Amino acid sequence: MLAGKHVLLIIGGGIAAYKSLDLIRRLRDRGVAVTPVLTRSGAEFVTPLSVSALAGVKVHQDLFDLTSEAEMGHIELSRAADLIVVAPATADLMAKMASGLANDLASTLLLATDKCVLLAPAMNVRMWTHAATQRNIATLRADGILFAGPDDGVMACGEFGPGRMAEVPVIIDAIDAALTHGPLKGRHILVTSGPTHEPIDPVRYIANRSSGAQGTAIAAALAALGADVTFVTGPASVPPPQGVRVINVETAAQMLTAVDAALPADAAVFAAAVADWRVTTASDHKIKKVAGALPTLSFAENADILATVSHMTTGRPTLVVGFAAETDDVLAHATAKRQRKGCDWIVGNDVSPETGIMGGTENAVILITSEGAETWPRMGKDEVARRLAQRIATALGV
Ligand code: CTP
Repeated sequence: MLAGKHVLLIIGGGIAAYKSLDLIRRLRDRGVAVTPVLTRSGAEFVTPLSVSALAGVKVHQDLFDLTSEAEMGHIELSRAADLIVVAPATADLMAKMASGLANDLASTLLLATDKCVLLAPAMNVRMWTHAATQRNIATLRADGILFAGPDDGVMACGEFGPGRMAEVPVIIDAIDAALTHGPLKGRHILVTSGPTHEPIDPVRYIANRSSGAQGTAIAAALAALGADVTFVTGPASVPPPQGVRVINVETAAQMLTAVDAALPADAAVFAAAVADWRVTTASDHKIKKVAGALPTLSFAENADILATVSHMTTGRPTLVVGFAAETDDVLAHATAKRQRKGCDWIVGNDVSPETGIMGGTENAVILITSEGAETWPRMGKDEVARRLAQRIATALGV
């Protein structure tokens, strides 16, 4: 159901801009509120008056439009909608997005948004097939940007090939899929999170400083993209997210059992800080303090849940993502950990106390895949989660 949804529609410069007028009309027929943004070159093809008349609201054109800044700042504008659609998306606009430029209203909104973005590209066939455009498309897809079209056909310039903007019903179907289904609809994703507690006796345990914030944010971001999420969590200090299946566990052994029971899954993200050892001498009654005598604890190694799932020969999730919590030489340790554990990706992070990452709200990660290492800038754990979820959607081919 599209009714009641809100789309921010950016109309770029291209002859296909006329189709965007029809897109506005058909979206409104289906009960969708459309906030239009017209780029400077878009206004060469369609008039602001026809856009605002069809949308029934003011069209936004300038970054420094003081009236609209007083009503709604560009950051707010970029987040108020449920989805951002760019139609037509020009080669220039896609190049700006791929390189993170923000020098006009449209590119600023696209950089500032925390919403899903759908592009309907339209350009000359040579521009579409150019290596630079194809590089930009690969970057945008990796960033989780969705595409509708382009189509093959005779273009306004007389040439034939890919580059013609998708027809309006196709764009509406893509909007429908992005809004009502989410790109991960129908995919089951398992997420482990939080610390584990390994009992010493009924009142004492061995734990670690993980708050569960990053795993919780990842589960929420995956659910927001429509995934069916099983969230296996140790005793975390943040509440579990809405809209996921929560399995509470305490020990590493219980976490392994819960993970095993939750499989199969399309992808699994192991964000839990699992205790490496358990106390084999755990007592079923409180160990009493005896003057002059110190207790002796014996340990056994816990099963490595990530490695166990990564090395499954049947029923292994298509994508297995591990975390590497390190206090020094993050890249080297995380790279070695990816090899050792056999997972597809590893998210390395520096958890030394001075970073404030463990238990904090921000994270600075390195994503290591078979293609190499990417250093992400320090950002909120929610933003790390959102980017990772989008990358997972792309890797699962949606
Ligand atoms: N992990 C796991 N089961 C364990 C230990 C770790 O599933 N028994 C997973 C974590 O969820 C994480 C990854 O393995 O995705 C790496 O965890 P980390 O604590 O960084 O690595 P360890 O294997 O424990 O290695 P070390 O403590 O020596 O750094």
